[in-house]
Amino acid sequence: MLLTSMTGPFSDLTIAADVARAWSIPDRFYTAADVFLAERERIFARNWQVIGHVHQLVNPGDFFTTELLGEPLLLVRGAEGELRGFYNVCRHRAGPPAEGCGSKKLFRCSYHGWTYGLDGALISAPEFEGVEDFRTEQFALKPVRVEEWFNLIFVNLDPAAEPLAKTLGELPRQATRFQFADMKLSERRTYDMHCNWKTYVDNYLEGYHLPSVHPGLNRELDYSAYTVEPYTRHVRQFSPIRGAQPGDAAPRRYQETREDLTTDYFWIFPNWMLNCYPDNASLNIILPIDTERTLAIFEWYLPDKELWSKSAREAVEFSHQIQLEDVAICERVQKNLHSRSYERGRYSVKQEQGVHAFHRMYAEVMNV
Ligand code: FES
Ligand SMILES: [Fe+2]
Repeated sequence: MLLTSMTGPFSDLTIAADVARAWSIPDRFYTAADVFLAERERIFARNWQVIGHVHQLVNPGDFFTTELLGEPLLLVRGAEGELRGFYNVCRHRAGPPAEGCGSKKLFRCSYHGWTYGLDGALISAPEFEGVEDFRTEQFALKPVRVEEWFNLIFVNLDPAAEPLAKTLGELPRQATRFQFADMKLSERRTYDMHCNWKTYVDNYLEGYHLPSVHPGLNRELDYSAYTVEPYTRHVRQFSPIRGAQPGDAAPRRYQETREDLTTDYFWIFPNWMLNCYPDNASLNIILPIDTERTLAIFEWYLPDKELWSKSAREAVEFSHQIQLEDVAICERVQKNLHSRSYERGRYSVKQEQGVHAFHRMYAEVMNV
């Protein structure tokens, strides 16, 4: 039986390659603090993370600050229009060079007033005359890698990481028919969830729970044709949408049944998703806060003319309801993962290929 590495630090984390034989991730990986700390280093500090949207940085000098797993970051549009990222940590005594968001020509640390250019270079350090061997060029803000795709801004804290395009693999080609780049942010909601981030990702990666947990959504989709396709670093799930049927008791969201009328759900390792519907798209970022606390950030994107339409509002409310159903089951599962009765489970070969693919990727990087 082909197992992922058994020689790494988590020798109990072995997921068989054959889904029909495999057992899922052991329960302690969802509840233990040492696992969470290891994930920060092995997963979140080494993979591309969605951090914002290019509309936040339109003109030279536009900036915003944010945090990624406790790391303070500063993203800025440089003088030549280039995208730059830095640790938002002053090289003097770790004060904050920037706060909030806005537009600036330079950044002035609010502790002792060191100033930095849009390129991170230290411009001035007041009253530093007489300090020996002090060369300003050695005290620029530390950079982080930044890239963009689909109008989204990504950072990677690992200077040696592969380029974003390489890690996205087949995804850009699969997503081209969705006009995400032309859509505008319509709404953002944050869900504070009492569960491990993987509990939520597991749930996202299968349609197995649709009939039980989401009867409303299940009515709109063709569950029998629900398809899951795992790739190297992402999973695509898609389902044809059911148009209006004779004898419908209530109106359906989409009236026609067409070949190209599908929903495509893309999950990208480790923690972000793009949900593509014919008339809207949403981005989910699953942000671990603690071992058993996770934020799900949902952003809905719509074509300009649709931003305030009734159907757009309905689309947001529809996915909000689905999210509430998912949060409820994930929190219940998280509680049960502590039960002495449970250790690990098996996968449905028909329905849980996506969960299995995620667990394989997870075990591989945790045991590098
Ligand atoms: S910590 Fe920034 S100027 Fe002192
Ligand atoms: Fe769900």
